[in-house]
Amino acid sequence: MPFMSSINVGLFGLGVVGSGVLEILRRNGELIRRRLGAELRVTKAVTAHPEKKRAVPLDGISVSRDPDTILKDPNIHIVAELMGGTDLARRVVLDALNAGKPVVTANKALLALHPAEIFGKAYEKGLPLGLEASVAGGIPVLRALREGLAADQILEITGIVNGTCNYILTKMSEEGAAFDQVLAEAQRLGYAEADPTFDVGGFDAGQKLAVLVNLAYGATVNFPDIHVEGIAGVTPMDIGYARQLGYAVKLLAIAKPRGERVEARVHPALISRSHLLASVGGVFNAVFLTGDNVESTLHYGRGAGGLPTGSAVVGDLIDLSRAILSRSLGRMPPLSVQREHVRALAVMPMDEINSEYYLRFQVQDRPGVLAQITRVMGDRNISIKSMFQPSQADHPEDPVQVVLITHQALERDVQASLREIQPMPFVRGPTQMIRIETFEK
Ligand SMILES: NC(=O)c1ccc[n+]([C@@H]2O[C@H](COP(=O)([O-])OP(=O)(O)OC[C@H]3O[C@@H](n4cnc5c(N)ncnc54)[C@H](OP(=O)(O)O)[C@@H]3O)[C@@H](O)[C@H]2O)c1
Repeated sequence: MPFMSSINVGLFGLGVVGSGVLEILRRNGELIRRRLGAELRVTKAVTAHPEKKRAVPLDGISVSRDPDTILKDPNIHIVAELMGGTDLARRVVLDALNAGKPVVTANKALLALHPAEIFGKAYEKGLPLGLEASVAGGIPVLRALREGLAADQILEITGIVNGTCNYILTKMSEEGAAFDQVLAEAQRLGYAEADPTFDVGGFDAGQKLAVLVNLAYGATVNFPDIHVEGIAGVTPMDIGYARQLGYAVKLLAIAKPRGERVEARVHPALISRSHLLASVGGVFNAVFLTGDNVESTLHYGRGAGGLPTGSAVVGDLIDLSRAILSRSLGRMPPLSVQREHVRALAVMPMDEINSEYYLRFQVQDRPGVLAQITRVMGDRNISIKSMFQPSQADHPEDPVQVVLITHQALERDVQASLREIQPMPFVRGPTQMIRIETFEK
């Protein structure tokens, strides 16, 4: 290969992340040149609206609507896909790899929904994929998984990976405000989308968890098998009671290897207020990774935003440029394991997980009620760790709240108990169930 004085990047998307990438290359171009030994530059971009005015200068960049201007250009060395979506983005990533170009993408949806196709193509072509920006924005957690922790079996992944949900839960906790009220405020401040379903419904975190699991276990999981629950049902009352009991409420993305399967789930969870993740507030993200040798590690930072996410993209561009310059494109297997060891990994059904549970019953205040609840649970081997009755009813017909914390129990048994208790005559409203994450020892 002749001496290369520059690495040319074709950029798909000039939105929040694409603009962040250009801004970083503008600010730190000289520093990056010293680190790389070559200039890293974007020479072409493709966007839906090439005529749109951008916040960053586009000097020296030819902008088009036609993907082939990048994909068919032999002078483009790396393709960065920063558009999002799974239609055009999928075609662009596959065509770029087919054309022999390494790819950087921030697109968790594409990676979570089409892992076999995307990773399969990268393996087939012997090309690297830069994915850092797809999970937890600016936090280099995928690099930690693929490289820093390459010596370890990953025993547990527990992440706060959606800034919108963490912002809402933090505000609800600090101000005692209701979900809807804090969501509206988050939308006003630009921390939540006009349609917040993807974030508050847990789907964004679910897609990020799928990417983490794939890289941690050299596997592809079927995304729809990941259990996803959002935060809309969390009330200030539960957050308050949880605090009194020594817990914080967080939306967690959790994965644990279970023999030939993996536990992979996203849902609100109580965690001890003394755990490091409990102090991750506002829009910040953190991923807690436990390896069999290294034990606990915590990776914390900004999970979104043009510059933090752009930093992850440019870090990947530098990494892939180094691979091009040193002719070592096959150095990093896309899923951390050699091609012949990639496997399809089954997700364990929720019914089979074990957890501790926070259960808040709304019941009539009369003798015997608690005995009936605990009998149903006892019949299914669910033992009660503690009980908390925050208030007495003013009037005999008013409901009282009864909170039970269970020991480890099987989800199937807890769900069956709740189904049996709910129609009982003393029950005055829906029962709240939030799992408690106690972390693997
Ligand atoms: N924003 C974040 O903080 C963040 C963090 C982590 C990961 N990500 C991921 O990064 C990716 C980009 O997100 P973003 O926030 O930068 O999105 P964005 O601001 O909406 O920008 C999307 C860009 O893609 C272009 N585009 C959309 N459809 C296109 C099409 N059919 N043909 C050509 N160009 C098209 C748009 O063109 P026009 O501008 O011309 O309309 C725009 O420049 C997504 O996969 C997202 O999940 C984002």
